[in-house]
Amino acid sequence: MKQAVIIGASGGLGGALAQQLLQQGGWRVLGTYHQSGPLWNHPLMTWHSLDVRAENAIAALMTQAPKIDLLINTTGILSSSHQGPEKSIRQFNAEHMMASFEINTVPILNLGKHAQASLKAGHQPIVVALSARVGSIADNDLGGWYSYRCAKAALNMAVKTLAIEWQRSLPKATLIAYHPGTVRTALSKPFLSDDTARITLSPEEAAQHCLRVLERLTPTDTGTFWDWQGQKIPW
Ligand SMILES: NC(=O)c1ccc[n+]([C@@H]2O[C@H](COP(=O)([O-])OP(=O)(O)OC[C@H]3O[C@@H](n4cnc5c(N)ncnc54)[C@H](OP(=O)(O)O)[C@@H]3O)[C@@H](O)[C@H]2O)c1
Repeated sequence: MKQAVIIGASGGLGGALAQQLLQQGGWRVLGTYHQSGPLWNHPLMTWHSLDVRAENAIAALMTQAPKIDLLINTTGILSSSHQGPEKSIRQFNAEHMMASFEINTVPILNLGKHAQASLKAGHQPIVVALSARVGSIADNDLGGWYSYRCAKAALNMAVKTLAIEWQRSLPKATLIAYHPGTVRTALSKPFLSDDTARITLSPEEAAQHCLRVLERLTPTDTGTFWDWQGQKIPW
């Protein structure tokens, strides 16, 4: 049995990924939730509560998974209860930006730090950081969304940098940043118009695309940024 760890399995994409791995068979899944609580059960699914901002909680979680073959971090925020994505610099708020970095950027580094031993025990382990195309500097033609764009751009740099270190210390691992498409989840729904909703993916479709992309990865792909259609995104 292979072991997957899905951080944010209570979310739209994380939940669909966990369910599809379990349907495929051959996987045990350890999934985390924060505010939503465990939403469903399966004999091969284990739920843990985790606030991904707490390094000691991440370290404790990793002791529950001594071998990891697939680690997917899906945690992310686009807005908070008092602030949505900025349309203009007038709406910029430093506290919101720092909150965005805490959830979108920092966790992959604490996960990488504390999962190393478990990944070493895995078979050609894959680590996926859910990023977003808007985190690509090369692809930024529209502007706006300062906090989210900056947090995901910094996440991309974290992925690239950690992948370089792991080429030496964990050469069988593949670490990528991944854009899932625009997916109808709690994160995106408030910002989808009728027009954009038509070109979005359901969480189930997005999870299928993601797992298809992951199947084709090899360690030579480490330190790259992919979209749901299997195309590389420029940084
Ligand atoms: N949806 C899209 O269109 C889209 C597009 C591009 C990129 N992405 C990225 O894809 C990822 C998944 O997004 P989604 O659409 O599935 O969002 P979602 O449904 O809102 O799920 C977000 C997940 O993050 C968890 N989370 C938030 N704060 C946390 C914390 N402090 N500690 C631990 N977990 C925390 C949530 O847990 P609880 O619910 O239990 O609190 C939830 O499981 C995100 O990184 C997002 O930026 C999404």
